[in-house]
Amino acid sequence: MIDPIVGFSKLSKQEKIDWVAERYTQNPKKAKNILESYWNSEDEVQKLHDEFIENTITNYYLPLGIAPNFLINGKLYAIPMAIEESSVVAAASKAAKFWLDRGGFKSEIIGTEKIGQVHFMFYGDSFKLVEFFNTVHSKLLEEAKPLTKNMEKRGGGILKIELRNKTTELKDYYQLHCTFETLDAMGANFINSCLEQIAQTFKSEAQQFALFNEKEKQVEIVMSILSNYVPGCIVRAEVECAIRDLKTSTSVSPNEFANKMLRAIAIANVEPHRAVTHNKGIMNGIDAVVLATGNDFRAVEAGAHAYAAKDGKYKSLTNASIENGVFKFWIEIPLALGTVGGLTNLHPLVKLALEILQQPTAKELMQIVAVAGLAQNFAAISSLITTGIQEGHMKMHLLNILNQLGATEVEKNDMVNYFKNHTVSHSAVVEAFEKLRSNT
Ligand code: MEV
Repeated sequence: MIDPIVGFSKLSKQEKIDWVAERYTQNPKKAKNILESYWNSEDEVQKLHDEFIENTITNYYLPLGIAPNFLINGKLYAIPMAIEESSVVAAASKAAKFWLDRGGFKSEIIGTEKIGQVHFMFYGDSFKLVEFFNTVHSKLLEEAKPLTKNMEKRGGGILKIELRNKTTELKDYYQLHCTFETLDAMGANFINSCLEQIAQTFKSEAQQFALFNEKEKQVEIVMSILSNYVPGCIVRAEVECAIRDLKTSTSVSPNEFANKMLRAIAIANVEPHRAVTHNKGIMNGIDAVVLATGNDFRAVEAGAHAYAAKDGKYKSLTNASIENGVFKFWIEIPLALGTVGGLTNLHPLVKLALEILQQPTAKELMQIVAVAGLAQNFAAISSLITTGIQEGHMKMHLLNILNQLGATEVEKNDMVNYFKNHTVSHSAVVEAFEKLRSNT
């Protein structure tokens, strides 16, 4: 039985490592060596990473890959992707190349509005509350000015504050539903600071509102927080080509391919089990770019899945059509992203990823990320409706299996060559590897 610890965060980094290695690992010496081997060799860089979060003991690596040849609105991008799943970057690159030869991707911003809410309880006459809100509205904005003035200078700020009566859903529950424009910042800190100020003004003004009785004066603020559901912060990305141009390296004809793509989406739209996996494939591309560019992939995930369920049923985030011999494939997705603030100015690899993307604005990054999601979905569905997913997937996974088996570089080479003409499965690789070793 291990005793709980008090004051862990006050320990030095070395003490934290000793504590966890000695209490929770079989071989503390080995554990400490592993942790230390992932430190950056430059103290300054390591210190930077240490300070991103609390209780840092080391860095957690993910591969950063590049998917080149993405033509988006006429501009050619090489997209950095941070992800552990072996076939994702290869699939994105393949889809990028496919569409490069067919006019590339088009993308447009549909909206950039973000949302935050002050959730509160009001025990009284809702008509008086409306009157109070109308009276206090300008003061809410005025007292938030110190926080909003810089953002306003650049064209952003608080766009709207609405009072929403939610009492039919929850007794005495109301909201101040606020919309924001945060320009190139993801804006979480900006929004939350504004909301807390708005809540404070709202509460203190209520205490002085002459029409309120004593109970009504006691507005109970429950919480003030941004929403990661941003259906007003939407980007659309699409590709299109003549059906005859949908030739793939498989025996599936262009016509059949187009029809099967549509059917795959139709299935996702009626069957949530499939829709979740379908959208997971989209998020493979989206999360990888979101992570590489230092954005909050949990926020993006939560918002995207809520959007997928906006019609009351969880559906595909992508769509396709066939009209007059033209195949069209598109995505519409909420993406609250930033290219300034947060990690973007701090993490050396994030800064580099943004440089590789040619210093995009937040709107451009939304377009790039949506395209990455669309490309990933195109690649996944293309495989699923033709060869099946395992062929490509297992080819990419081959190196992982060989690494687990401790193969040398020469052995890996031999095995990759061998599996060019054989089906990869875990057992087939183990068998072929053992044979290779026994022959040498
Ligand atoms: C695997 O990470 C993603 C896929 O399952 C997506 C899909 O099925 O559409 C291949």
